[in-house]
Amino acid sequence: MQKNQPFVLVTRTIPEIGRKILSNYCKIEVLGHNPPSRKHLLDKVEKADAILCLLTERIDKDVFDIARKLKVVSTMSSGVDHIDVIESTKRGIYVTNTPDVLTDATADLTWALILTVSRRIVEADNFVRNGKWSIPWSPTLLLGSNVFGKILGIIGMGRIGLAVAKRAKGFGMKIQYYSRNRLKKSYENELDADYISLDELLSTSDYITIHAPLSKETHHLINKDRIRKMKYSAFLINTSRGSIVDENSLVQALEKHWIKGAALDVFEKEPIHKKNPLLKLNNIILTPHIGSATNQTRSIMAEIAATNLIESLSGRIPKYLVNHKVLKQCSPEEIKMI
Ligand code: DGY
Repeated sequence: MQKNQPFVLVTRTIPEIGRKILSNYCKIEVLGHNPPSRKHLLDKVEKADAILCLLTERIDKDVFDIARKLKVVSTMSSGVDHIDVIESTKRGIYVTNTPDVLTDATADLTWALILTVSRRIVEADNFVRNGKWSIPWSPTLLLGSNVFGKILGIIGMGRIGLAVAKRAKGFGMKIQYYSRNRLKKSYENELDADYISLDELLSTSDYITIHAPLSKETHHLINKDRIRKMKYSAFLINTSRGSIVDENSLVQALEKHWIKGAALDVFEKEPIHKKNPLLKLNNIILTPHIGSATNQTRSIMAEIAATNLIESLSGRIPKYLVNHKVLKQCSPEEIKMI
């Protein structure tokens, strides 16, 4: 190890490739397998030139106040809602993320959830395992809902929304979407996708899937009033961020059968509390935030997160810079250390 190498704090164990890339240029300290306590994190950041974090760590003003040498926060995630991006921009700290690479894995999981919840796969599996399958083929056993030819409503038509829509073509679905930004006409035509209001999407879709980032505007976007607009036969799927859905209202909706079912990979608080009422419902599928959880995807995420960080400290604009405005505060040359 050379002297004066940048010091990088890696908040949790990441796939080896990411650690290798960092170690080629920097001194690194990995805080451990589990998320560090707030105190542990704050105790460790002081000397960090860069932080490589996950979505489990809140990187905010308190961190920045202590980490006076900090130049880069590289998150191994697509979402950046755990980072105070506005504050980091003001302070000339580069924020980078790992979008693109997890698009297909997350879209695949969304589809797995759509099919699982509509065809009652978890119930069916339990039924067989628990020795309840005593009568041969039955015309009324475990009847689910059709997917083919139904209407898919996508909230948030970014990379993942688009990948979900492409898969929906294979299921002969009508696609409609609501998003901050409208797709180019050519994409709309290719997918035969209609851009509509949120209210219309809620009241007409058979499957509603959320792919928006969490922000002040999207927090509890799906609240009681909006759920009440959905069809009784509709399903809600969320693989983006838990707080976009008001969980209490969803529990009420599922208990009262205002909608047919839901599938969540993300929750307002993760991991969910043992007493979370969602656990008692059988018209919902629950998975533990595994949208990007494939070996290949997680390795590439680690590689990109490490590369973003090294690029920044090498005085180059990283490919996945989140806060482009930071370049006005601090040029790549100014943060160059490698
Ligand atoms: C992300 O990257 O934001 C996902 O939620 C986890 O892979």
